[in-house]
Amino acid sequence: MTHSTAHRILLAATLASLAAGLSGCRGDREDRPPRQFFPDMDDMPKFAPQAGNEFFADGRTMRPGVPGTVPFGRTDVVASDAWAAPFAADREALLREDDRTYRGLEADGTTYVERIPIEVSMDLLKRGEERFNIYCVACHGYLGDGKGTVGVSFNPVVPTFHDPKYSDPSDVFGRDGYLFHIIRHGKLGGDGRLTMPAYAHAVNAHDAWAIVSYLRALQASRNATINDVPEAQRQALEKARPPKMTPPAGGAQ
Ligand code: HEC
Repeated sequence: MTHSTAHRILLAATLASLAAGLSGCRGDREDRPPRQFFPDMDDMPKFAPQAGNEFFADGRTMRPGVPGTVPFGRTDVVASDAWAAPFAADREALLREDDRTYRGLEADGTTYVERIPIEVSMDLLKRGEERFNIYCVACHGYLGDGKGTVGVSFNPVVPTFHDPKYSDPSDVFGRDGYLFHIIRHGKLGGDGRLTMPAYAHAVNAHDAWAIVSYLRALQASRNATINDVPEAQRQALEKARPPKMTPPAGGAQ
């Protein structure tokens, strides 16, 4: 072992025991102010919002916009220019001003929208299927019948989406906006606790609409027959159907 290797091992051992000593204090109550190892990050000079400032003639720290500045995404100012389109999309995603898309609510702020307010495509449905299978099946089951592995022993009872009330838009439960709301915010029980967990942390607005679209597909397929399938897809479906098992003539040998 060379001299410098021994030196390094000794240094590492010293550091390790120091770290162990420090971590021993974690979680203990302490009334003295915390030690500052790198005080420059804690105590750096800065101006607080709304604070006064002697540097500027108007005495304000927060600076007003330069005259003529176009606020982010104000594409109405320059709507005729094609280059503005991506900024309009960004603005919508950032500011979430559209209540129909981001809250599932009509302009009155209380009525749930009847139909999914974004374009429903095959891609959206597939995304919905994937997200549903990740976040919902444990309780609601792959078929949406409430018989997921966790769902069967859950309290309260996990409802089936094939209850007609979930497809009747004259009932609040049947509105797309209501389903969207439940996915994002969960279901509040009478005692103020969530009976179904909220998924807004994991399921954004776009994905929540995707799940609603898939839920509608689950409902539509529940009582559908092969005749409900468009002619073009019918043959592909028939081909995918597993062959019927015919018992051997004369019964089992
Ligand atoms: C941990 C289990 C669990 C998961 C996961 C779960 N749910 Fe639920 N869900 C429930 C329970 C329990 C209820 C019934 C709540 C009640 O009756 O108060 C419910 C109710 C619902 C309802 C009906 C609400 C009503 O007012 O009748 C909808 C719609 C729903 N869930 C959709 C979903 C969707 C979509 C997902 C996936 C994003 C999901 N749930 C994930 C447990 C779950």
